[in-house]
Amino acid sequence: MSVLGGVSARPDFDTEAPTVPVHIGIIMDGNGRWAEARGLPRVAGHRKGVDALRRTVRHAAKLGVRHLTVFSFSSENWSRPAQEVASLMGLLRRFIEQDLRELDQNNIRVRPIGRRDNLSKEINELLTHAEETTRANTGMTLLVAFNYGGRDEIARACRIVAERVAAGEIAADAVDETLIASYLDTAGIPDPDLIIRTSGESRLSNFLMWQAAYAEFVFVPELWPDFDEAALEAALSEFRNRNRRFGGVVAGVTGG
Ligand code: FPP
Repeated sequence: MSVLGGVSARPDFDTEAPTVPVHIGIIMDGNGRWAEARGLPRVAGHRKGVDALRRTVRHAAKLGVRHLTVFSFSSENWSRPAQEVASLMGLLRRFIEQDLRELDQNNIRVRPIGRRDNLSKEINELLTHAEETTRANTGMTLLVAFNYGGRDEIARACRIVAERVAAGEIAADAVDETLIASYLDTAGIPDPDLIIRTSGESRLSNFLMWQAAYAEFVFVPELWPDFDEAALEAALSEFRNRNRRFGGVVAGVTGG
């Protein structure tokens, strides 16, 4: 029985952290600092960041993680210099062109999340291509948060729900957490158990705002390009030591 009773985002779960989280979210931070520390342009850090992403995807899949969400481009990243924005678009294109085959061969399903209507036709087509090519895969889901912001995602979901209520398709009193979650980009994906942020920063920065309600947070000092298999294992080890209570009480311990 769930300690949350009727709350549906996590219907039934154990307060014991599983050995391997079902869903991990990663805020891949520190590419710019990695490059600046070496006197390199920021894009060199993003390039190394793609290598770290590749390593992490391979290792997470090997460990049996079911869903991995990576924050690749935030809705706020448009405010960066145009050249850096163009580089990040180019890196996404190259990542899909170069890595989709390997992802597909490893039974990994790619699922883009984020706003699509203000992306170029080319990027939209690539994201759709990656999603469609891997749709039938049954291994790990790689959720690529691109042009993603948690508040934007919630607002887009609410807009659709409001339109359906106005059209008489949904009763206003049927609007609950389960219904809103079903209109989020992550519909059907369990909430993240663990969110990792690299580079020593301790913020959520608009990542999986709704879904992170009961996630464990692990903030690690490594800059993203330096994140490797050992760093992932260390974060998982910290996760295993957490006592997840989901707002309930466990063994006489109170708190959220
Ligand atoms: C944060 O580092 C990272 C990003 C804004 C983008 C993350 C992108 C990648 C890991 C590579 C691209 C991958 C794909 C699939 C597009 P930062 O630039 O904010 O670093 P800083 O805080 O040190 O400046």
